[in-house]
Amino acid sequence: MAYNNIIVEKRGKVGLITLNRPKALNALNSELIGELNEALAKFEKDDKTGCVVLTGSEKAFAAGADIKEMSSLTYIDAYKNDFITSWDYVSRFRKPIIAAVAGYALGGGCELAMMCDFILAADNARFGQPEITLGVMPGAGGTQRLTRFVGKSKAMEMCLTGRTMDAAEAERSGLASRVVPLDELLEEALKVAEKIADYSLPIAMMTKESVNRAYETTLAEGVRFERRVFHSMFASEDQKEGMAAFVEKRAPQFRNK
Ligand code: HXC
Repeated sequence: MAYNNIIVEKRGKVGLITLNRPKALNALNSELIGELNEALAKFEKDDKTGCVVLTGSEKAFAAGADIKEMSSLTYIDAYKNDFITSWDYVSRFRKPIIAAVAGYALGGGCELAMMCDFILAADNARFGQPEITLGVMPGAGGTQRLTRFVGKSKAMEMCLTGRTMDAAEAERSGLASRVVPLDELLEEALKVAEKIADYSLPIAMMTKESVNRAYETTLAEGVRFERRVFHSMFASEDQKEGMAAFVEKRAPQFRNK
């Protein structure tokens, strides 16, 4: 399927989605979000996809929501069409998804990266929520997710001033899981994604669901949820295989991947 704003590829069991509006620094317009959702839905259904990498260009992961498209939006249109709700699919995508971020991840670009399961950052990455400079605020979860990632003080400063964070600060403050040299970013992201895709897919999905509970609920409820899901894993053939392989000193051959 050919898209206008993204490139979709398969690398073994990894789905690779590259945001591709180079002239607009991958600004996220509604057509792009529609295409992204369609590509994700296909990867979600595809039994042979175990993990997805979402990336942009060397200069920009995404420089935000498309300001030109948004500039004439009225309150009534935004309300009626529930503007931004269509972006949520990334955060509800059930398989593991990694954001490989180089260059600008600003506004909606930073929010899109934060909807992924974790962020691998190139050393030239710059994260920020500059919406205040445009007379608005983050609208795709930025005030909530950034605060959970980096804490109130840094999130508040970034949202109130529009200051950007470089890759080292992003890693230090927990926004990025790791920083790698720019020319190794994609290779490293694909390597990590392949590793995840080589495990049992349902077990990886349950693990993701359980970690995400930490954002939604109390510690006691989260631990209870984890325990229930953990118990259920003993009904899976992949648990039997994983543990048998350890005991027999061989590599596991997970079936459900
Ligand atoms: C539309 C954008 C854009 C955006 C860049 N472009 N960002 N178009 N929406 N968010 C376009 C520019 O208009 C220009 O096109 C081309 O991309 C190259 O950008 P330049 O500004 O010439 O590049 P540069 O000088 O290198 O500066 C890069 C930059 C700057 C610092 C990233 O482009 C910038 O500040 N962009 C806006 C960042 C931002 O405010 N993001 C938040 C958006 S609001 P032309 O045709 O003019 O050459 C947001 C709200 C989210 O995301 C809320 C809900 C989703």
